[in-house]
Amino acid sequence: MNRLVVGSGNIFGNLVVVGEAPGAQEDLEGKPFVGKSGKFLKNLLDVSGINIYEDVYFCNVIKCRPPRNRKPTPKEISIHKPWLIQQIKLVNPKVVVLAGSTAMKTILEVNKPISQLRGKCFNLKGIEYIPIFHPSYLMRFSQNEINNPYGLTLKDLQNVRNKLYHL
Ligand code: URA
Repeated sequence: MNRLVVGSGNIFGNLVVVGEAPGAQEDLEGKPFVGKSGKFLKNLLDVSGINIYEDVYFCNVIKCRPPRNRKPTPKEISIHKPWLIQQIKLVNPKVVVLAGSTAMKTILEVNKPISQLRGKCFNLKGIEYIPIFHPSYLMRFSQNEINNPYGLTLKDLQNVRNKLYHL
């Protein structure tokens, strides 16, 4: 672990995207979502019509890379969670996308599979939280099908875009 990876993007954005934890590239650069799966997610947001440069703030549940990319432990999550809550409070977005099951479970405090809750909207204190599949999982699927996890996520993010831009 080299660096803390706190967040990047527009701190006044109307969308916050929360991932799990920094990977190797994020650890090198000190920024979230700059590695392979991060780029994949940014492309998905972009093709869904979301302006990733003007409207999005990116961060993770965990602010430093877990050894060998292992899943964060419940103790690590509980230590980092107040920091994430404070970040969301400060940005005060309209929508928060929870990318992957760690982000979903941390914020929504549910223990259901992401396949059951993805695309659903949870309103907490005036902010809409929408879980989606994690980008590293989505990278395994064809981008030409509408009903596979990739196609479903595209649909979820198009709904997010409609909420952001009142379409
Ligand atoms: N990059 C991140 O910063 N977080 C993730 O969850 C995945 C890739």
